Amino acid sequence: MVKISPSILAADFTKLGEDIASVEKAGAEMLHLDVMDGIFVPNISFGIPVIASARKASGMFFDTHLMINEPIRYIGDFAKAGADLITVHAEACSDVKKTLEAIRALGVKVGLSIKPATPVSAIEDYLEYCDLVLVMSVEPGFGGQKFMPIAPEKIAELSKIKSEKHFSYEIEVDGGINEETAKLCTAAGATVLVAGSSVFGNADRKSAIDSLRS
Ligand code: DX5
Ligand code: ZN
Repeated sequence: MVKISPSILAADFTKLGEDIASVEKAGAEMLHLDVMDGIFVPNISFGIPVIASARKASGMFFDTHLMINEPIRYIGDFAKAGADLITVHAEACSDVKKTLEAIRALGVKVGLSIKPATPVSAIEDYLEYCDLVLVMSVEPGFGGQKFMPIAPEKIAELSKIKSEKHFSYEIEVDGGINEETAKLCTAAGATVLVAGSSVFGNADRKSAIDSLRS
């Protein structure tokens, strides 16, 4: 069954604990944490203290998506704050392999992401180091954007490489995921769906999450 990772970027930060509990109760397998630095992406979201607070309130698997330049500078702090998986952008690292190895050395899961314009071939050499590969289906930076149809093609490519080379990474997709686009992504081989507005924009979290799986 495809896993669902609701993005708290679309949550109400004045009641973050309640919002997190609501998606856990509704059956979400992970919690997606979108960290933005205002440099790699044209927006600033939240960072280490918010994740450390959320960690105290929740036992969920923290799927941490770092949209920051040279993330190697901060991965130790994110691991300490409670991240279970740290995903970095290939476009943001001067040394991708070194960054992935540094995440691994912290004892957390390793994720690598690509923006819509970055081809799968750009990260092919690093796939063997990944527990998760994140395909962006919008330009990173903001929630509530429209899904880009290039994503399922890239998911299918990653899925093919995964079976050919006997890799075991999760294939995650992020941006504009709703009932309709979820189907396209799971059909292409996605194993984790990130959803912000479609989950937190629906007061009935269970039906929102269930509809992404069907
Ligand atoms: C965009 C973020 C996404 C975003 C998803 O930079 O990485 O996780 O919050 O939001 P929706 O589901 O609203 O497109
Ligand atoms: Zn994200």
